[in-house]
Amino acid sequence: NERTFIAVKPDGVQRGLIPEILTRFQNKGYKLVGIKLTLANETLLKQHYADLTSKPFFPKLLSYMMSGPILATVWEGKDAVKQGRVLLGATNPNASAPGTIRGDYAVEVGRNIVHGSDSVENAEKEIALWFKKEELVDYKPTMYGWIYE
Ligand code: GTP
Ligand code: MG
Repeated sequence: NERTFIAVKPDGVQRGLIPEILTRFQNKGYKLVGIKLTLANETLLKQHYADLTSKPFFPKLLSYMMSGPILATVWEGKDAVKQGRVLLGATNPNASAPGTIRGDYAVEVGRNIVHGSDSVENAEKEIALWFKKEELVDYKPTMYGWIYE
């Protein structure tokens, strides 16, 4: 089953949005398979955002992502990567529709409270980067018959 890496960034953690963000993924029907509160360091972030290291905003992105704890999570379910991005909304919160996490809770691209993998391939890389194998748990939620036909 498809898995995606979703992180609540330091601003989302500090603003008390962890419960709200977890609730949205849970209510959608996805299964939580990994979760931890962690601090990111420069080495990890340079791998995580490898495609952005040459961008002018990268130093700001680094200090933003190192400004406090991050909630790292892995969710599993049908089309989880693409639909996870739909739940988050557009990168720039001012382009995010109401009803999305960024559309409802953020106003600036540099404080957009959540991260979500943008492809299945990147999801696999990010999950391996942020989690050890033994930190991911497999189980069958009793409600699965009510979520999947
Ligand atoms: P993530 O889910 O965090 O990866 O966001 P994304 O995939 O929607 O966007 P992208 O990977 O292109 O950028 C990663 C993060 O860098 C964004 O979520 C923003 O926090 C930050 N970022 C992107 N573009 C800008 C920018 O123009 N200015 C600033 N300050 N930050 C930016
Ligand atoms: Mg991205």
